[in-house]
Amino acid sequence: AAPLRVALLGGGTVGGSVTRMLLEQADDLEQRIGRRLEIVGIAVRRAGRDRSDLGVDPSLFTTDAQELVTRADIVVELIGGIEPARGLILRAMEHGASVVTANKALLAEDGASLHTAAAEHGVDLYYEASVAGAIPILRPIRDSLAGDSINRVIGIVNGTTNFVLDAMDTTGAGLFETVERAQALGYAEADPTADVEGFDAAAKAAILSSLAFHSRVSTEDVHREGITGVGARDIQAAQDMGCTVKLLAICEKVATADGTGISARVHPAMIPLTHPLASVREAYNAVFVEAEGAGDLMFYGQGAGGDPTASAVLGDLVAVARTRVTGGRGPGASSYANLPVLSMGQA
Ligand code: HSE
Repeated sequence: AAPLRVALLGGGTVGGSVTRMLLEQADDLEQRIGRRLEIVGIAVRRAGRDRSDLGVDPSLFTTDAQELVTRADIVVELIGGIEPARGLILRAMEHGASVVTANKALLAEDGASLHTAAAEHGVDLYYEASVAGAIPILRPIRDSLAGDSINRVIGIVNGTTNFVLDAMDTTGAGLFETVERAQALGYAEADPTADVEGFDAAAKAAILSSLAFHSRVSTEDVHREGITGVGARDIQAAQDMGCTVKLLAICEKVATADGTGISARVHPAMIPLTHPLASVREAYNAVFVEAEGAGDLMFYGQGAGGDPTASAVLGDLVAVARTRVTGGRGPGASSYANLPVLSMGQA
Protein backbone atom coordinates (compact mmCIF):
# COMPACT_ATOMS: atom_id res chain seq x y z
CA ALA A 1 0.00 0.00 0.00
CA ALA A 2 1.08 3.59 -0.57
CA PRO A 3 2.77 5.28 2.39
CA LEU A 4 0.78 7.67 4.57
CA ARG A 5 1.80 11.24 3.72
CA VAL A 6 2.86 13.29 6.74
CA ALA A 7 3.24 17.08 6.60
CA LEU A 8 5.06 18.85 9.43
CA LEU A 9 4.29 22.48 10.20
CA GLY A 10 7.02 24.16 12.22
CA GLY A 11 10.76 23.64 12.17
CA GLY A 12 11.56 24.49 15.79
CA THR A 13 12.91 22.33 18.60
CA VAL A 14 9.93 19.96 18.76
CA GLY A 15 9.66 19.80 14.95
CA GLY A 16 13.33 18.86 14.77
CA SER A 17 12.91 16.08 17.35
CA VAL A 18 9.78 14.76 15.62
CA THR A 19 11.58 14.68 12.27
CA ARG A 20 14.65 12.92 13.68
CA MET A 21 12.61 10.33 15.57
CA LEU A 22 10.36 9.69 12.56
CA LEU A 23 13.40 8.97 10.39
CA GLU A 24 15.29 6.93 12.99
CA GLN A 25 12.31 4.72 13.77
CA ALA A 26 10.84 4.53 10.27
CA ASP A 27 11.01 0.71 10.08
CA ASP A 28 9.66 0.10 13.59
CA LEU A 29 6.82 2.55 13.05
CA GLU A 30 5.93 0.90 9.75
CA GLN A 31 5.63 -2.43 11.56
CA ARG A 32 3.49 -0.97 14.34
CA ILE A 33 1.18 0.88 11.96
CA GLY A 34 1.09 -1.52 9.04
CA ARG A 35 1.93 1.27 6.61
CA ARG A 36 5.01 3.40 6.03
CA LEU A 37 5.01 7.07 7.07
CA GLU A 38 6.51 9.41 4.51
CA ILE A 39 7.37 13.03 5.30
CA VAL A 40 6.10 14.95 2.28
CA GLY A 41 7.09 18.41 3.50
CA ILE A 42 8.23 20.51 6.43
CA ALA A 43 6.81 24.03 6.51
CA VAL A 44 9.19 26.59 8.02
CA ARG A 45 8.86 30.33 8.42
CA ARG A 46 12.09 31.27 6.69
CA ALA A 47 13.87 29.44 3.90
CA GLY A 48 17.62 29.10 3.84
CA ARG A 49 18.45 28.12 7.42
CA ASP A 50 20.88 25.19 7.55
CA ARG A 51 18.94 22.05 8.56
CA SER A 52 21.46 19.44 7.50
CA ASP A 53 21.54 18.18 11.13
CA LEU A 54 18.08 16.64 10.61
CA GLY A 55 19.24 14.47 7.72
CA VAL A 56 16.20 15.12 5.53
CA ASP A 57 16.11 15.91 1.84
CA PRO A 58 16.48 19.73 1.72
CA SER A 59 13.80 19.91 -0.99
CA LEU A 60 11.21 18.93 1.66
CA PHE A 61 11.46 22.36 3.31
CA THR A 62 8.87 24.84 2.16
CA THR A 63 7.57 28.22 3.28
CA ASP A 64 4.19 27.48 1.66
CA ALA A 65 2.27 25.77 4.49
CA GLN A 66 -1.09 26.55 2.81
CA GLU A 67 -0.14 24.37 -0.14
CA LEU A 68 1.57 21.66 1.92
CA VAL A 69 -1.52 20.85 4.02
CA THR A 70 -3.53 20.05 0.88
CA ARG A 71 -1.37 17.06 0.00
CA ALA A 72 -1.08 15.13 3.27
CA ASP A 73 -2.96 12.35 5.05
CA ILE A 74 -1.75 13.58 8.44
CA VAL A 75 -0.73 17.13 9.34
CA VAL A 76 1.42 17.69 12.43
CA GLU A 77 1.04 21.30 13.59
CA LEU A 78 3.90 22.57 15.76
CA ILE A 79 3.76 26.28 14.98
CA GLY A 80 1.85 27.28 18.12
CA GLY A 81 -0.33 30.36 18.66
CA ILE A 82 -3.77 31.03 17.20
CA GLU A 83 -3.10 32.14 13.61
CA PRO A 84 -1.94 30.94 11.16
CA ALA A 85 -2.16 27.60 13.03
CA ARG A 86 -5.98 27.53 13.22
CA GLY A 87 -6.46 28.37 9.53
CA LEU A 88 -3.95 25.73 8.49
CA ILE A 89 -5.55 23.04 10.68
CA LEU A 90 -9.03 23.80 9.30
CA ARG A 91 -7.69 23.79 5.74
CA ALA A 92 -5.92 20.47 6.35
CA MET A 93 -9.19 18.96 7.64
CA GLU A 94 -11.14 20.31 4.66
CA HIS A 95 -8.69 18.45 2.46
CA GLY A 96 -9.26 15.24 4.42
CA ALA A 97 -6.18 15.20 6.63
CA SER A 98 -6.17 14.14 10.26
CA VAL A 99 -4.37 16.53 12.58
CA VAL A 100 -1.90 16.08 15.42
CA THR A 101 -1.02 19.26 17.29
CA ALA A 102 0.86 20.43 20.38
CA ASN A 103 -0.93 23.77 20.34
CA LYS A 104 -2.33 24.41 23.84
CA ALA A 105 -3.25 28.05 23.20
CA LEU A 106 -5.41 27.14 20.24
CA LEU A 107 -7.05 24.10 21.85
CA ALA A 108 -7.76 26.11 25.00
CA GLU A 109 -9.30 29.00 23.08
CA ASP A 110 -11.13 27.16 20.34
CA GLY A 111 -11.01 23.40 20.93
CA ALA A 112 -14.75 22.98 20.45
CA SER A 113 -14.79 24.35 16.90
CA LEU A 114 -11.74 22.28 15.94
CA HIS A 115 -13.50 19.15 17.18
CA THR A 116 -16.61 20.15 15.25
CA ALA A 117 -14.58 20.60 12.06
CA ALA A 118 -12.86 17.23 12.57
CA ALA A 119 -16.25 15.52 12.96
CA GLU A 120 -17.64 17.31 9.91
CA HIS A 121 -14.78 16.14 7.72
CA GLY A 122 -14.52 12.66 9.26
CA VAL A 123 -10.92 13.10 10.39
CA ASP A 124 -9.07 12.75 13.69
CA LEU A 125 -7.77 15.48 16.00
CA TYR A 126 -5.19 14.50 18.65
CA TYR A 127 -3.27 16.86 20.93
CA GLU A 128 -1.58 14.90 23.70
CA ALA A 129 1.56 17.09 23.59
CA SER A 130 -0.43 20.25 24.36
CA VAL A 131 -0.60 19.45 28.09
CA ALA A 132 2.36 18.30 30.21
CA GLY A 133 4.68 17.38 27.33
CA ALA A 134 5.69 13.75 27.44
CA ILE A 135 3.16 12.72 30.09
CA PRO A 136 0.30 10.64 28.69
CA ILE A 137 -2.62 12.43 30.32
CA LEU A 138 -5.17 13.54 27.72
CA ARG A 139 -5.71 10.16 26.12
CA PRO A 140 -5.88 8.42 29.53
CA ILE A 141 -8.56 10.95 30.53
CA ARG A 142 -10.36 10.76 27.18
CA ASP A 143 -10.05 7.01 26.60
CA SER A 144 -8.90 4.95 29.59
CA LEU A 145 -11.11 6.79 32.06
CA ALA A 146 -14.03 7.19 29.66
CA GLY A 147 -16.07 4.72 31.69
CA ASP A 148 -15.33 6.37 35.02
CA SER A 149 -16.41 9.67 36.50
CA ILE A 150 -13.67 12.19 37.25
CA ASN A 151 -14.27 14.48 40.20
CA ARG A 152 -11.05 16.49 40.26
CA VAL A 153 -7.82 17.00 38.35
CA ILE A 154 -4.92 18.77 40.06
CA GLY A 155 -1.90 19.47 37.89
CA ILE A 156 1.58 20.84 38.15
CA VAL A 157 1.58 21.63 34.46
CA ASN A 158 4.15 24.38 34.16
CA GLY A 159 7.76 23.31 34.49
CA THR A 160 9.23 26.80 34.63
CA THR A 161 7.28 27.88 37.69
CA ASN A 162 7.80 24.51 39.39
CA PHE A 163 11.53 24.91 38.87
CA VAL A 164 11.44 28.42 40.33
CA LEU A 165 9.30 27.50 43.37
CA ASP A 166 11.39 24.38 44.03
CA ALA A 167 14.62 26.40 43.84
CA MET A 168 13.18 29.00 46.23
CA ASP A 169 12.21 26.17 48.57
CA THR A 170 15.73 24.73 48.47
CA THR A 171 17.79 27.92 48.61
CA GLY A 172 15.55 30.35 50.49
CA ALA A 173 16.17 32.90 47.75
CA GLY A 174 13.60 35.42 46.53
CA LEU A 175 11.43 35.18 43.43
CA PHE A 176 13.15 37.59 41.10
CA GLU A 177 16.70 36.37 41.61
CA THR A 178 15.46 32.78 41.20
CA VAL A 179 13.68 33.62 37.93
CA GLU A 180 16.94 35.20 36.72
CA ARG A 181 18.84 32.07 37.66
CA ALA A 182 16.25 29.92 35.87
CA GLN A 183 16.68 32.09 32.78
CA ALA A 184 20.48 31.70 32.92
CA LEU A 185 20.04 27.91 33.16
CA GLY A 186 17.61 27.85 30.23
CA TYR A 187 14.59 26.81 32.33
CA ALA A 188 12.80 30.14 31.95
CA GLU A 189 12.34 32.15 28.78
CA ALA A 190 13.77 35.63 28.23
CA ASP A 191 10.18 36.87 28.60
CA PRO A 192 8.82 34.64 31.38
CA THR A 193 5.37 36.29 31.51
CA ALA A 194 3.33 33.40 30.09
CA ASP A 195 4.79 31.04 32.67
CA VAL A 196 5.10 33.15 35.84
CA GLU A 197 1.73 34.85 35.36
CA GLY A 198 0.00 31.47 34.92
CA PHE A 199 -1.25 31.93 31.34
CA ASP A 200 0.42 28.71 30.16
CA ALA A 201 -1.04 26.70 33.06
CA ALA A 202 -4.48 28.27 32.55
CA ALA A 203 -4.59 27.10 28.93
CA LYS A 204 -3.68 23.59 30.06
CA ALA A 205 -6.34 23.75 32.82
CA ALA A 206 -8.95 24.60 30.18
CA ILE A 207 -7.98 21.58 28.08
CA LEU A 208 -7.90 19.24 31.09
CA SER A 209 -11.29 20.49 32.32
CA SER A 210 -12.90 20.12 28.89
CA LEU A 211 -11.80 16.50 28.57
CA ALA A 212 -12.26 15.46 32.20
CA PHE A 213 -15.79 16.87 32.44
CA HIS A 214 -16.93 16.45 28.81
CA SER A 215 -17.60 20.14 28.62
CA ARG A 216 -16.41 23.30 26.93
CA VAL A 217 -14.00 25.22 29.07
CA SER A 218 -11.82 27.87 27.49
CA THR A 219 -8.89 29.86 28.87
CA GLU A 220 -11.04 32.83 29.77
CA ASP A 221 -13.14 30.62 32.05
CA VAL A 222 -10.10 29.78 34.16
CA HIS A 223 -9.39 31.94 37.20
CA ARG A 224 -5.68 32.73 37.03
CA GLU A 225 -3.10 33.89 39.51
CA GLY A 226 0.62 33.41 38.80
CA ILE A 227 3.58 33.14 41.16
CA THR A 228 4.70 36.79 41.16
CA GLY A 229 3.16 37.34 44.58
CA VAL A 230 5.10 34.46 46.18
CA GLY A 231 8.10 35.57 48.24
CA ALA A 232 10.79 33.86 50.30
CA ARG A 233 8.70 34.48 53.42
CA ASP A 234 5.72 32.59 52.00
CA ILE A 235 7.94 29.63 51.21
CA GLN A 236 9.37 29.74 54.74
CA ALA A 237 5.90 29.93 56.27
CA ALA A 238 4.83 26.90 54.23
CA GLN A 239 7.90 24.97 55.37
CA ASP A 240 7.10 25.80 58.99
CA MET A 241 3.73 24.14 58.47
CA GLY A 242 5.14 21.01 56.82
CA CYS A 243 4.07 22.22 53.40
CA THR A 244 5.54 23.32 50.09
CA VAL A 245 4.24 25.90 47.61
CA LYS A 246 3.25 24.75 44.10
CA LEU A 247 1.51 26.47 41.23
CA LEU A 248 -1.54 24.25 40.79
CA ALA A 249 -4.11 23.93 38.04
CA ILE A 250 -7.23 22.76 39.86
CA CYS A 251 -10.17 21.53 37.81
CA GLU A 252 -13.13 20.18 39.73
CA LYS A 253 -16.79 19.39 39.72
CA VAL A 254 -18.64 21.43 42.30
CA ALA A 255 -22.18 21.30 43.59
CA THR A 256 -24.32 24.28 42.66
CA ALA A 257 -27.79 25.38 43.66
CA ASP A 258 -29.20 23.65 40.56
CA GLY A 259 -26.88 20.71 40.05
CA THR A 260 -23.24 20.40 39.13
CA GLY A 261 -20.78 22.93 37.73
CA ILE A 262 -17.10 23.12 36.93
CA SER A 263 -14.51 25.22 38.68
CA ALA A 264 -11.15 25.69 36.92
CA ARG A 265 -8.41 27.77 38.46
CA VAL A 266 -4.65 28.28 38.54
CA HIS A 267 -2.98 29.68 41.62
CA PRO A 268 -0.10 29.06 44.02
CA ALA A 269 -1.12 26.73 46.83
CA MET A 270 0.42 25.20 49.92
CA ILE A 271 0.35 21.44 49.82
CA PRO A 272 1.40 19.12 52.64
CA LEU A 273 4.72 17.33 52.09
CA THR A 274 2.81 14.06 52.43
CA HIS A 275 0.82 14.72 49.21
CA PRO A 276 2.31 12.95 46.16
CA LEU A 277 2.42 16.27 44.25
CA ALA A 278 4.90 17.64 46.82
CA SER A 279 7.51 15.23 45.49
CA VAL A 280 7.45 16.84 42.04
CA ARG A 281 10.72 18.75 41.92
CA GLU A 282 12.68 20.89 39.47
CA ALA A 283 10.97 21.37 36.10
CA TYR A 284 8.95 18.13 36.23
CA ASN A 285 5.19 18.06 35.72
CA ALA A 286 2.55 15.83 37.28
CA VAL A 287 -1.20 15.46 37.07
CA PHE A 288 -3.21 13.99 39.94
CA VAL A 289 -6.63 12.64 38.98
CA GLU A 290 -9.39 11.74 41.42
CA ALA A 291 -12.01 9.48 39.86
CA GLU A 292 -15.07 7.79 41.28
CA GLY A 293 -14.10 4.22 40.46
CA ALA A 294 -10.35 4.41 39.94
CA GLY A 295 -9.69 6.47 43.06
CA ASP A 296 -6.49 8.51 42.96
CA LEU A 297 -4.10 8.34 40.01
CA MET A 298 -0.91 10.28 39.39
CA PHE A 299 0.86 10.85 36.09
CA TYR A 300 4.43 12.17 36.27
CA GLY A 301 7.17 13.12 33.82
CA GLN A 302 8.82 15.77 31.69
CA GLY A 303 6.49 18.54 30.64
CA ALA A 304 8.66 20.26 28.06
CA GLY A 305 11.67 19.83 25.79
CA GLY A 306 12.17 18.61 22.24
CA ASP A 307 12.36 14.85 22.64
CA PRO A 308 9.83 14.48 25.50
CA THR A 309 7.27 16.57 23.61
CA ALA A 310 8.06 14.74 20.36
CA SER A 311 7.35 11.44 22.13
CA ALA A 312 3.77 12.57 22.76
CA VAL A 313 3.43 13.90 19.20
CA LEU A 314 4.67 10.63 17.71
CA GLY A 315 2.30 8.61 19.92
CA ASP A 316 -0.59 10.62 18.49
CA LEU A 317 0.80 10.24 14.99
CA VAL A 318 0.86 6.44 15.35
CA ALA A 319 -2.69 6.43 16.77
CA VAL A 320 -4.01 8.57 13.91
CA ALA A 321 -2.11 6.51 11.33
CA ARG A 322 -3.56 3.28 12.72
CA THR A 323 -7.13 4.53 12.41
CA ARG A 324 -6.33 5.59 8.84
CA VAL A 325 -5.09 2.08 8.07
CA THR A 326 -8.11 0.36 9.61
CA GLY A 327 -10.48 2.90 8.10
CA GLY A 328 -11.98 3.90 11.43
CA ARG A 329 -11.92 7.09 13.41
CA GLY A 330 -10.56 7.83 16.85
CA PRO A 331 -12.65 9.28 19.65
CA GLY A 332 -14.17 12.67 18.97
CA ALA A 333 -15.50 15.03 21.59
CA SER A 334 -19.13 14.61 20.71
CA SER A 335 -20.56 13.89 24.14
CA TYR A 336 -20.60 17.33 25.67
CA ALA A 337 -22.30 17.53 29.04
CA ASN A 338 -22.03 21.32 28.93
CA LEU A 339 -21.83 21.75 32.67
CA PRO A 340 -21.81 25.40 33.64
CA VAL A 341 -18.39 26.86 34.37
CA LEU A 342 -18.43 28.80 37.59
CA SER A 343 -16.55 31.95 38.32
CA MET A 344 -14.49 32.00 41.52
CA GLY A 345 -17.18 34.03 43.28
CA GLN A 346 -19.73 31.28 42.76
CA ALA A 347 -17.39 28.42 43.68
N1 HSE B 1 6.65 26.91 29.26
C1 HSE B 1 6.12 25.61 29.49
C2 HSE B 1 6.56 25.11 30.86
C3 HSE B 1 6.59 24.68 28.40
O1 HSE B 1 7.36 25.77 31.52
O2 HSE B 1 6.10 24.08 31.30
C4 HSE B 1 5.66 23.55 28.10
O3 HSE B 1 4.40 23.94 27.68
